Amino acid sequence: MPRLRVGVLVSGTGTNLQAIINAAQAEQYPAEVTVVISNVPTAPALERAARHGIPSQVVDHRQFRLTRICRRLTERGSAENYDRVRFEQALCDALDAYQVELVCLAGFMRVLTPFFVQRYSGRIMNIHPALLPAFKGLWGHHVHEAVLASGARYSGCTVHFVTEEVDGGPIILQRVVPVYDDDTPETLAARVQEQEHQLYPEAIRLFAEGRLRIVGNRVIISQ
Ligand code: GRF
Repeated sequence: MPRLRVGVLVSGTGTNLQAIINAAQAEQYPAEVTVVISNVPTAPALERAARHGIPSQVVDHRQFRLTRICRRLTERGSAENYDRVRFEQALCDALDAYQVELVCLAGFMRVLTPFFVQRYSGRIMNIHPALLPAFKGLWGHHVHEAVLASGARYSGCTVHFVTEEVDGGPIILQRVVPVYDDDTPETLAARVQEQEHQLYPEAIRLFAEGRLRIVGNRVIISQ
């Protein structure tokens, strides 16, 4: 059986990328990382790809700067000054060049527009370091700070399909971890991350085995 071709989009450290690469080293794992794409040229995740002989490409959003006049004509007051559609077209070109069947966001720090999301509808996943739908729209240490401030007794991680709503797509898998009284954002992050590294490869495996079906905003997992 040919293995599912996965493209992983990253911006940073890439520990989730590493977990997926490690899982794919098992012969019976039904997916492989075909290309790693980063919008940050210095992302350590790129070194991980290189160490494993996986092709990578940098698509730097800053290369798609809007001219001052364009900026005035488009989103008035927007802090972002790059052409999102041209950036995303370049991402699509890179993914197409490697015939990617599933796109996995793994610490990819750009919000994707409907242009990209619709093109890969039902075949883009993301991992979020909290139990969605709580604590959506936050990232990094902000998520764990918000969980601690909320007094929640449990946190965890979520793998979900990506839709136009940030962190709002159908939930595929979740793992729960306890929150302890003496937790700091760092200790909680470490506990969550350990679970992320098991959860993402598992979600990809289910997708590759054709066992995920989206029904409304729910994902049905067949046995
Ligand atoms: C993870 O915590 C993930 O949940 C979030 O971004 C982080 C990426 O970490 N979306 P890494 O680059 O995989 O180490």
